[in-house]
Amino acid sequence: MTLFSPSLIGGDGWSALGKKITVGFLGLGNMGRPLAENVLKAGFPLIAWNRTPEKGKDLVDQGATWAQSPSEVAEACDVLVSILADAAAVREVLLGDEGVAAAKGNAPVIVEMSTIAPHESVAIAEALQGRGFVMLDAPISGSTKMAADAAVTILVGGDAGALETVRPVLEAMGKAIYHMGENGMGCSMKLVNNVILAAVLAGFAEAFVMGQKAGLAGDRILDVVLHGSAACPLLEFKGKVIAAHDFTPTFRLRMMRKDLTLALNAAGGLNVPMPLTSVLNELHQAGIAQGLGDQDFSSIVRVFEGLAAIP
Ligand SMILES: NC(=O)c1ccc[n+]([C@@H]2O[C@H](COP(=O)([O-])OP(=O)(O)OC[C@H]3O[C@@H](n4cnc5c(N)ncnc54)[C@H](OP(=O)(O)O)[C@@H]3O)[C@@H](O)[C@H]2O)c1
Repeated sequence: MTLFSPSLIGGDGWSALGKKITVGFLGLGNMGRPLAENVLKAGFPLIAWNRTPEKGKDLVDQGATWAQSPSEVAEACDVLVSILADAAAVREVLLGDEGVAAAKGNAPVIVEMSTIAPHESVAIAEALQGRGFVMLDAPISGSTKMAADAAVTILVGGDAGALETVRPVLEAMGKAIYHMGENGMGCSMKLVNNVILAAVLAGFAEAFVMGQKAGLAGDRILDVVLHGSAACPLLEFKGKVIAAHDFTPTFRLRMMRKDLTLALNAAGGLNVPMPLTSVLNELHQAGIAQGLGDQDFSSIVRVFEGLAAIP
């Protein structure tokens, strides 16, 4: 079993003993793919697996090793990163028959970066702990562009010592790392973050549609919003996407709907009413019903256009 001491790890992927930290990577979707590439670029040997192997071909061309299963990845790495669609996928990949927990003779520190419910994350961390693994929840705040630029924010829940052990790997992916508390707290912070993102973007989309129906040009609305009192970094990025109506997905609308539902479920358990989030959740559900689930979440503007009978 590989046991790490934080003092043995250097920031460039080398330990003080001259051994390179091998990073395992599970999940090469929109977010995982650029993160994995940055880990490789930072000098860490990388062993990767994805359900759809084609998505890993160019990483292998760049020097990554391909594995046939998540357990094979776990057997060969020191730090293991997973970033998958939802809790069902995380359970399957970490705890399933060929999952990480089935690995023999090695127990990497697991950095679980998917956005899933806090209670699910805690349950998975506990199941892994029973099999000799330490898991941190470390969901990400940021876009695919920020992932490509190694500029995401990473929200960590779990053991502080384990965080120090994996910090050099996280630093290869993100520019800000926050330790939020015990297991599950990273996921709780991520839900707070995404409720705010969904609310800001839907607020912009609703007002944008109203302005256009009143006869204002889209680019003029955007110009004023981006330079006036409503300016914010999200609109700098996604407001332009809405004005251009290019909904090539970087964060799918169905993913945002997943996060809103997770937030409502968490709030229910805490006896916290979230009336605005309930409406946002229904609007995103309407978007999925209209076939927008696999488009970017900025396509929420289409829902407002539909309500306003704008073709
Ligand atoms: N995109 C963003 O801007 C963004 C930002 C912050 C956080 N996130 C979060 O990051 C996570 C990944 O998002 P994404 O945008 O990268 O999603 P994505 O492009 O849809 O990728 C999903 C990944 O999960 C894998 N997967 C799904 N179901 C699986 C299963 N049953 N077994 C094994 N693998 C499975 C997919 O494998 P295949 O390739 O085989 O389908 C793929 O690697 C989500 O939790 C999301 O909420 C995304």
